Amino acid sequence: MAVRRLHHEQPESFAFTPDNQAWAEKVIGRYPEGRQASAVIPLLWRAQEQHNGWLPEPAIRCVADMLSMPHIRVLEVATFYTMFQLQPVGRKAHIQVCGTTPCQLRGAEDLVAVCKRRIAEHAHEVSEDGDFSWEEVECLGACVNAPMIQIFKDTYEDLTPEGLEGLIDDISAGREVTPGPQNGRRFGMPLSGQTSLGDIKDTTEGHLPAAHVIDGAEKASHAFAGGHINAGGSDFNGVPGKAPGAAKTSSAKKADDIGTDAQKAVPAAKPAARKAEAPAKSEPKKPAAQTSLDLDEDTGTEPELLKGAREGKADDLKRIKGVGPKIEGILNEIGVYHFDQIAGWTEENKAWVETRLKFKGRIDREDWIAQAKVLASGGETEFSQRVDTGDVPTSKA
Ligand code: FES
Repeated sequence: MAVRRLHHEQPESFAFTPDNQAWAEKVIGRYPEGRQASAVIPLLWRAQEQHNGWLPEPAIRCVADMLSMPHIRVLEVATFYTMFQLQPVGRKAHIQVCGTTPCQLRGAEDLVAVCKRRIAEHAHEVSEDGDFSWEEVECLGACVNAPMIQIFKDTYEDLTPEGLEGLIDDISAGREVTPGPQNGRRFGMPLSGQTSLGDIKDTTEGHLPAAHVIDGAEKASHAFAGGHINAGGSDFNGVPGKAPGAAKTSSAKKADDIGTDAQKAVPAAKPAARKAEAPAKSEPKKPAAQTSLDLDEDTGTEPELLKGAREGKADDLKRIKGVGPKIEGILNEIGVYHFDQIAGWTEENKAWVETRLKFKGRIDREDWIAQAKVLASGGETEFSQRVDTGDVPTSKA
């Protein structure tokens, strides 16, 4: 691990943009009083995204002050995790090559050689055109699909030197690139497709069965700071010109797949061509896209949905126990804004909504419908009263 120091040139100051400031305050509000320091990593990440992909010293102080933490403690966090860049990085991509044993055994050194030749001789040097930079990092948790790299929030796995060259070409030209395995395999499955748990209904439409818990891991990796990088950088929280079109998947891993014959047979062709060679059984229906809304769409019956809140004023759905800011956002996204909508849900409606929330049983567990009926009629529940008095931190939007 290289020594990680602050860059010798620093900006005078740092302040979050108004949007990022509002976002940061919302994140801080999710933690109980006295536990605000828990927000340090998401805030540092957002600061990095805002500051062209690297974290200047004034941003570290700014985050520390917002969280009432000693500056040194936030500096410790920023210098410990290689996800935080302490010096300027390439405009379009900062390539982190995993150099730990499994990746090294499967060709990481060849990937480093490509970076040296195509980007810059030394790690952390920005390429002449300013578009790329690279570094070697420790294990990034995708060993089963070694060798691999990470670019901002996404990983690119099962790479060959030719594959990495193609990736750099595509990013450089602004073409869309697809994160995840680059050899046609799906997640950490054998290249030949799923070999176990085949009797479990695939409830995730183009993703692994729920029993793999892989879908949850995939969501978590992207839920961390929200959004994805893309060509225009618009989803990269305001950082312009970052890596093009990263798709909305990131691979989760199964360690028991390491060293399978299928993995050893990694072909060198471009990902699209390789996918065509893979057996139909393992062909993903949507290799590049996942949202919270594209799952199991045939389940249940769509309830009454609205294009917007009536008279532009939505009910505070967080007054229902079990509905936090994130779930409220999903409900609004699918067209649920009012207590009376929820109060009228049938069993079939609940099933439809639950597939979008991706947590079966959530609605019944807290009995949203009974709560919504009380609230829709103007009454109060014990929980809604606690929300109104500010006693429920997770209900603060
Ligand atoms: S060794 Fe490279 S991802 Fe773990």
